[in-house]
Amino acid sequence: MTDRHYRMPVTINNEDDSHPSNPSAGPVMTDLIAQRMSRRTALKGLLASAAIGAIGVGSGLAARPAKAAASLSFSEIPHGYDENLHIPAGYTANPILRWGDPIVAGAPDFDPAKQDAAAQAQQFGYNNDFVHFAPLPEGSDASDHGLLIVNHEYTDAHLIFPGFADGKAALAATTAEMAAYEQAAHGLSVVEIKREASGWAVVKDSKFNRRITLATEMELVGPAAGHDRLKTSADASGTKVFGTLNNCAGGWTPWGTILSAEENTHQYFGGDPAGTPEAANAKRIGIKGEPSYAWGKFEDRFDISKEPNEPNRFGWIVEVDPYDPATKPVKHTALGRFKHEAATTVINGDGRLVVYTGDDERFEYVYKFVSNGTYDAAKGRANSALLDDGTLYVAKFDADGNVTWMPLVHGQGELTEANGFHGQADVLIEARRAGDLLGATKMDRPEDIEASDKTGKVYVVLTKNDKRKAEQVDAANARADNKWGHIVEMVPPTAGGKADHAATAFTWSAFIQAGNPGDAAQGAAYGGAVTDAGWFANPDNVAFDAAGRLWIATDGFPDHGVHDGLWVTETEGEGRAITRHFLGCPRGAELCGPAFTPDGKTLFVSIQHPGDEDGSNFAAPTTRWPDFKDGVPPRPAVVAITKDDGGEIGA
Ligand code: FEO
Ligand code: CA
Ligand code: CA
Repeated sequence: MTDRHYRMPVTINNEDDSHPSNPSAGPVMTDLIAQRMSRRTALKGLLASAAIGAIGVGSGLAARPAKAAASLSFSEIPHGYDENLHIPAGYTANPILRWGDPIVAGAPDFDPAKQDAAAQAQQFGYNNDFVHFAPLPEGSDASDHGLLIVNHEYTDAHLIFPGFADGKAALAATTAEMAAYEQAAHGLSVVEIKREASGWAVVKDSKFNRRITLATEMELVGPAAGHDRLKTSADASGTKVFGTLNNCAGGWTPWGTILSAEENTHQYFGGDPAGTPEAANAKRIGIKGEPSYAWGKFEDRFDISKEPNEPNRFGWIVEVDPYDPATKPVKHTALGRFKHEAATTVINGDGRLVVYTGDDERFEYVYKFVSNGTYDAAKGRANSALLDDGTLYVAKFDADGNVTWMPLVHGQGELTEANGFHGQADVLIEARRAGDLLGATKMDRPEDIEASDKTGKVYVVLTKNDKRKAEQVDAANARADNKWGHIVEMVPPTAGGKADHAATAFTWSAFIQAGNPGDAAQGAAYGGAVTDAGWFANPDNVAFDAAGRLWIATDGFPDHGVHDGLWVTETEGEGRAITRHFLGCPRGAELCGPAFTPDGKTLFVSIQHPGDEDGSNFAAPTTRWPDFKDGVPPRPAVVAITKDDGGEIGA
């Protein structure tokens, strides 16, 4: 979610300064430039940072090297900002799942004038974020039949309920019925879809169709499960929790399940954490008695003064089996607790499982988990145990171009009894504080992290950090007041001819410094000249297509006057880091997803929070996308995009 879309009066979650910024003295700018210059000589192909001088920009914005377009033949759309969704000529966009659409058998139709929690629990939830296409039958590479798994990150009360001027008014007036509705609109949806001659359609009443909400029972597993700090008055076992919160992006596993990332979970907990045993922990994660939801008024578990451990049961990576609606989702504590954006799984060359995940807040960290055991396809779902036994690492990006992965293991380094870590459970519950003590690199809001299966390189997407001061600039976060965001490329070493994602030493370099290359003050840098429409800001979620091209979704570009949307680039060759504009969102929306079918011929995107702008509300929204009917507010929706000639998207 973009930070201005938090409900008011919010402690703006991603703008949260509840923890101290880096207390260590940062190197001064001139030192950093010198360091980067030497790195530039050392690392071939390194993109210069802004302070050195952007490569390839300023040489005529309208010109694009011919080679950049070699594998991308669509006509770029222009920057814009209006009520509609925009895609290139020759493509069709079909909203296939809208907030309120009936999902499970017997679900009532959407009625925006009469929101009802029981109905919503059977309908497609609000603010769709992560999207994954899982083929049917399972194990096939079908691209015309499958399951869509979708996260529902949060709710915008003033766009859901009639009669509220803004989020602040809605929060003050929240009733128990509204709170129940909001809880039913959170979680995930699993929906069977089929591609017919007329396009993609939902399979109504499918046995796979399922809603997961705050009422869904889940299991806590891994090293922290059952720990005293996960026990509540409702759960003496510390292993049973109802629901999942603020499911942002995610990932999928080789054994057919998906991983859903709990992000801004702090905003649901009211009450004063001061005086509870979890006060310091609550502060570090951003809980400070100013919730964005009123749930604590109606349910003790959302009041930290009454149930201080309940927040410790959220902020994890949640595994969901879309193929078996009877299964309980599982929260894997070995992957740490923080504001997870995504969870990207790679089977390493040696068979171990590696999961990349970032903590999306200003000055937070990049993590990876490496399993002890190795993946065995014959074991199917039992491979899930790999996620419970392994090592969580946090990243340090050095000015010399090295990345050091530091283990978050109790008893090692600073993670000791003396520092208040009594065991591995404490390290995982307070992963942020563990990262602080190890001196991890404070990044400009780590959103998605994805690994290319073509090159083995790993892309870390940093959306922005307008609180970074000049004295806090470091090599990997090279711009003060970074309003535009950037993408860092990590390169694992090779072992046996394959990228060794489990290694503790990688190298890194800058891939793109987002922003307008026509404004030198922004310090934007691409791989070459981009068109007027090709530059972007605030990268968030990314996906690779079958050809290995990187598709970049944005969240926050409206702050720079342009719709959020989708840009695409090659990662190698002459088109490397030269982005082209493919899709523009309706106003107020950010773009989430994106996800491709295995054949690359359908692209699914999430249009999240359309019409969420200042002054926009249920009665007078700034867009009524996608229905455009009087009385119907804008509806977050998943859109299927296909090429009219039946070809691959983008090609
Ligand atoms: Fe939910 Fe970091 O976006
Ligand atoms: Ca976002
Ligand atoms: Ca996101």
